[in-house]
Amino acid sequence: MSSPDERREGLKALFHEARGCVRCPQLAQTRHTVVFGAGHANADLMFVGEAPGRNEDEQGLPFVGQAGRLLDTLLGEIGLSRDAVFVTNVLRCRPPGNRDPHPVEIERCQDYLFRTIDLVAPTVICTLGNFATKLLRHDTTGIMRLHGQAEVRTVGPRAVRLFPVFHPAAALYTPSNVEVLRQDFQRLPALLALGPPEQPVAVAADESLVEPAPADDAEAPEASEEPQPVQLGLF
Ligand code: URA
Repeated sequence: MSSPDERREGLKALFHEARGCVRCPQLAQTRHTVVFGAGHANADLMFVGEAPGRNEDEQGLPFVGQAGRLLDTLLGEIGLSRDAVFVTNVLRCRPPGNRDPHPVEIERCQDYLFRTIDLVAPTVICTLGNFATKLLRHDTTGIMRLHGQAEVRTVGPRAVRLFPVFHPAAALYTPSNVEVLRQDFQRLPALLALGPPEQPVAVAADESLVEPAPADDAEAPEASEEPQPVQLGLF
């Protein structure tokens, strides 16, 4: 496993790779920006939504519209903020007119998602809605059946606690679903407190070789003077 600095550098490199992506010819033509994802590079909690909408496409950041405001409110209610978590999507480009992602687009974009997950190495991945839930569970079971139920799943090389919830934008259409989403969010602190699930043998062996983190009173490395691109502001 890599150090926090190595993970941050890995995310920056992946962001630079993704920002010029032309794997989906239509999306590459119609998007304004590639919305890579934002948040803490070593977050324990990651959210995976569906795809950028109009506001996200304009600003280059995930969940900055109405659904994002609900996400912020629900995070605040459990004592968390955006800079403590990492937020990304199944797709990095806005589908025109906010149509559903096409299967081929999900297929072409998924390697960015899996590499992001591998770099951040969260303990809990909260999938927002059907697209993220189906992709990360490799299964067609829908969010109505799965929301609020945590399970340990292998995502890439690591085991994570997967926690599907309603998509905030979908919940906003039905006020009672906002309440369901809120109740599901209330379970996140306890899930995080469980810590990482048991890892597959290869990961566990790798992590046992990692040097222990320096003690708190060890000298902190100097902060980089390098200006950060706006989308990396929260990394
Ligand atoms: N909906 C999503 O799924 N993702 C965003 O980034 C914004 C809205």
